[in-house]
Amino acid sequence: MSDERTVNDDNHDRGSSDEVPSRVTDDVLDRVAEDGPLAVLVPEPRTEIAIESLRTEGVYDDERAISPSTDGKIALPVTRPPTETQVDDIVRQVDPTYRTTDLDDVLETQGWTEADLENAPGSWAVVGDVVLVTIPPACPDEEAVADALLDLHGGAATVLADEGIDGVGREPQTRHLAGERDTETVHVEHGTHYALDPSEVMFSPGNQAERVRMGDVVETDEQVLDMFAGIGYFTLPMARAGASVTATELNPTAFRYLLENAVANGVADRIDAYNADCRDVAPDVDVDRVVMGYYGTSAADSDPHHSGADTSRSSEEPESRANAGHEFLPVALDALESGGTLHYHEACPENRLPDRPRSRLGSAVADTGRELVDVEQRRVKTHSAGVVHAVLDATVE
Ligand SMILES: C[S@@+](CC[C@H](N)C(=O)[O-])C[C@H]1O[C@@H](n2cnc3c(N)ncnc32)[C@H](O)[C@@H]1O
Repeated sequence: MSDERTVNDDNHDRGSSDEVPSRVTDDVLDRVAEDGPLAVLVPEPRTEIAIESLRTEGVYDDERAISPSTDGKIALPVTRPPTETQVDDIVRQVDPTYRTTDLDDVLETQGWTEADLENAPGSWAVVGDVVLVTIPPACPDEEAVADALLDLHGGAATVLADEGIDGVGREPQTRHLAGERDTETVHVEHGTHYALDPSEVMFSPGNQAERVRMGDVVETDEQVLDMFAGIGYFTLPMARAGASVTATELNPTAFRYLLENAVANGVADRIDAYNADCRDVAPDVDVDRVVMGYYGTSAADSDPHHSGADTSRSSEEPESRANAGHEFLPVALDALESGGTLHYHEACPENRLPDRPRSRLGSAVADTGRELVDVEQRRVKTHSAGVVHAVLDATVE
């Protein structure tokens, strides 16, 4: 084994690979912390999936490089033992290689000046093994940025320039900058596997907490309608939590991934999927919950992929749209049974919160003669400069 010792070297008890995290005692962890940083061993073909899973758990250590081990395994640096990612072993890296962790540091070593660094990207997203980065217009050398990002993210295979999202089908506009040209990947998040090609379908890392929350709020055996299912952003965690989901999605590419992901996550029997306009599909029964994870075309057109604010964008309110999310409220209310929950998403100028989404929802509910009994508003992320992606959880009698 290269530069590693297993935590078992001193006869500490460890279980099978499935049980690794729970069998690592505080005693072992104390000793590991003293003797060297932790890494986990995974079979080489699982490297990318394992890195994403470890990253999602928040235990992947970007400060150290991955290293080959024996028996076709790869050592992945972690800050503490994972609890969700399946690993073959836990080891100490005796002489780890430390990575330069900051993009500016890497570029600086290549001779970038302070002025150049002002025009380097400030944030980027990692989706599976694909890095998506918005290149500032005055960036001195996008190829150098892309190579540096590949260097920073050991598990990444490709870097794409993120140039926005187009139209109702939310098609990403991307440009290949570095690495492999095949950009199909699997993004793992809290145990949910999202297969996708980020050059063909959108994925919003900033919505991670909301995707996880949907899996948490749903009850086993609930009937759910996900009106804008995409590749299964919310459908998959909800189905994995035991709900039966009717999922509608217009974009045929996103729909293909939705079907694939339903099978890959073992929930195909709980997902009734339609490659159709949500206005044309009525679930067989009134549902307990409706998810409206779409806020319309013109707001969507400027949706940055990454989770941070994009300060280059205007703080103007999005133009009025032919397919604004709130125009779908009557369809959602039609499907929702009395006492059911509606999750209504809206991209809203910060200065019009909390009133605008609340009043749009209130009017739509009033138009049906029903009653809004409980509304809670949350901030999902910053959509763009001055615009917030908000979600309202509403109970409707
Ligand atoms: C914004 S994406 C989903 C975003 C996802 N909820 C998230 O938070 O990351 C919205 C999806 O709705 C789909 N869509 C737009 N209008 C639709 C409609 N009328 N019926 C069904 N799907 C629609 C688009 O193709 C797109 O995949």
